[in-house]
Amino acid sequence: MEKKLVILASGTGSNAKKIIEYFQDDPEVGVALVISNRKNAPVLDMARDFGIETLHISRSFFYDSKDILRILEDRKIDFVVLAGFLWLIPAYFVEAFAGRMINIHPALLPKYGGKGMYGMNVHRAVKEAGEKESGITIHHVNSKYDEGDIIFQASCSLEQTDSPETIAKKVQILEHQHFAPIIKQLLKEFGERQ
Ligand code: GRF
Repeated sequence: MEKKLVILASGTGSNAKKIIEYFQDDPEVGVALVISNRKNAPVLDMARDFGIETLHISRSFFYDSKDILRILEDRKIDFVVLAGFLWLIPAYFVEAFAGRMINIHPALLPKYGGKGMYGMNVHRAVKEAGEKESGITIHHVNSKYDEGDIIFQASCSLEQTDSPETIAKKVQILEHQHFAPIIKQLLKEFGERQ
């Protein structure tokens, strides 16, 4: 495996799973580690089932020490992927992986982003606003929620009959379709620049 990814996730990890599967037979890229802030997050079980190393981190470990950098360095991690990770990334971590850390957001940023805008909160807000479309945004990570430079967006049209739940389904299809190929593309560009 040439380029190594770490995925940070807080929940189910359906995106993490797609990424792991996508790179499973790729000789150039692989998921080397999955980290969660929730000890019992299903994403950790899923990763273990694939034989991938997992790590649970506490709030103080993440915010009061920089030990995570040592762990990533030891494993020679090149790239950080946030896939439903709900904690804000501290400045030391953003700086260490500047240009090498991305997030996926289940809406068309800059709309429907920021603190508290995650999961069904996003889709409910989109529905309440009567939006005619929603979608996904893949963006660089900085120290503010959902404000890093946008790398890629894809949209889906919404009908009046759509509920927050059906919006979530439409958006998830886009996430599963695009996230891993965009990571692959970024790593390719990144490799070419080196
Ligand atoms: C996704 O909707 C992603 O956009 C957001 O968190 C959700 C994670 O879902 N950042 P899953 O755990 O990958 O199923």
